[in-house]
Amino acid sequence: MIRFLVFCDLHMEDCVDGMERLERILNHAKEEQVDFIVSLGDLCFPTEDHIPAMELIRSCGIPVYHTIGNHDVQDWEIEQSLQFLGKEKPYEAFEMGEYRFIILDTCYWKSETGEYHFPNKQRIPSLYPWVPKEQRDWLNEQLSDGKKCVVFSHMSLVNPFMRRGIANKEDIQQIFEGKNVLLCMNGHDHGSDLKKIGGVPYYTVSSASQFCWWSADGRKVENLFYKDPLHVIVELDEDEIRIQGMASDFEGLRPEDVGIDDYRWNGVDVHPVAQSHVLKRTK
Ligand SMILES: [Fe+2]
Ligand SMILES: [Fe+2]
Repeated sequence: MIRFLVFCDLHMEDCVDGMERLERILNHAKEEQVDFIVSLGDLCFPTEDHIPAMELIRSCGIPVYHTIGNHDVQDWEIEQSLQFLGKEKPYEAFEMGEYRFIILDTCYWKSETGEYHFPNKQRIPSLYPWVPKEQRDWLNEQLSDGKKCVVFSHMSLVNPFMRRGIANKEDIQQIFEGKNVLLCMNGHDHGSDLKKIGGVPYYTVSSASQFCWWSADGRKVENLFYKDPLHVIVELDEDEIRIQGMASDFEGLRPEDVGIDDYRWNGVDVHPVAQSHVLKRTK
């Protein structure tokens, strides 16, 4: 059995207690003796004041794999973010036991002239987020030897709500057809959800700090912080995929205070929880 912890969207710069939240996540990983940890992105800006957070992560004694999030490259080139995170490539794969774990980089945009990594400093009208052809070809290759795979990405590969999910999601779903994709996991949506498309479960991991709400005209923004750093532990065995989530509460403002009575927003559930699920394996 393989066990791993997944967290995302800590947004250290937004939190007064970012280090404490990170420490709690890492301590839980140690207590649970997971095989590895995945950060699904939007961890912190790649700046000097966040070096202690990276040192804490490196000293935890468990391998930590990073996914590039839009906030990790909103004002920085990808090379700077990679160097900060200690990553060699923006997308990568690693194997453990009978499984291959694939980490995508969905932080690209596409215009008439080509496919480019964030940031889009020129503000050229474009399609985004986007997974470029080169990465799609690489993904297809990774899935083509029949190995059972789990795919991680910052943005959703299925969420159709405005520009939450990647714009060329159908291209990715098509690559998955007939392949051994056991599970996809994403962050970015600051909520929790499970969608099943083409027999593949797509699970969205809640933020480790907050539900970030903004008004329809984009003028008003509120960060609705959770009391606890939400994250999940995933167990893979021969029969099941068990996603062990957790529940928390809001620290102050709640969704109904910003007019969200049904707790659905941006295509996900915004209760202060990371949903738990037991999925029967079909592959
Ligand atoms: Fe985020
Ligand atoms: Fe994000």
